[in-house]
Amino acid sequence: MPRLPEGFEFLPVKHSVNIKKERDNKEQYMDLLLETDPSKEMINKYLSDGELFVLTYNDEPICVAVVTKINNDTVELKNIVTKENYRGKGYAKKMIKYLVDNYKTRYNKMLVGTTENNIPFYVKQGFDKYEKTVKNFFVDNYAEKIYDGNIQCANMYYYSKELKKVER
Ligand SMILES: CC(C)(COP(=O)(O)OP(=O)(O)OC[C@H]1O[C@@H](n2cnc3c(N)ncnc32)[C@H](O)[C@@H]1OP(=O)(O)O)[C@@H](O)C(=O)NCCC(=O)NCCS
Repeated sequence: MPRLPEGFEFLPVKHSVNIKKERDNKEQYMDLLLETDPSKEMINKYLSDGELFVLTYNDEPICVAVVTKINNDTVELKNIVTKENYRGKGYAKKMIKYLVDNYKTRYNKMLVGTTENNIPFYVKQGFDKYEKTVKNFFVDNYAEKIYDGNIQCANMYYYSKELKKVER
């Protein structure tokens, strides 16, 4: 350890992780949101109706999520994405936990629609109830072909997580 001049000391580096709801200027996260959903038109639609949450690491936005209201009982997680070089470190898991805590006092259920590839990720996060399959969703709703790795996406699979609404 190098010696420091008198009066100076080494301090541990503090890493701060923060999650907050973003009300203004939501479009600044468009590039990140496009990594999950390649349609700007679709994103703009749920971005205007939905609530956007941003997780920052040392003030850098690294994970974002959008949630929309379906009805008085149910919300839907429309998009969640972690910046590529921050994946696999637990940030999406942290974000989902925050969303669940945020919505569980007002809603009973959180729905998510996913490609086949991402089903295991959501099941692991507690979206363990299969709801329905919308056949050819990605073929019918996107102008271009959507790929998940080498596989062309066709169906959208819906799963849900119980939020256990707390009566007030
Ligand atoms: C899917 C995604 C959001 C996960 O974000 P992340 O910050 O890397 O996830 P986490 O590190 O919090 O992972 C949480 C857990 O899920 C697991 N996991 C992550 N991606 C997974 C996948 N594709 N399949 C199965 N499990 C997965 C992790 O291993 C981890 O498990 P653990 O709790 O046992 O450690 C991220 O990979 C991403 O942004 N992908 C591109 C966009 C996307 O596909 N979004 C989903 C749209 S349907």
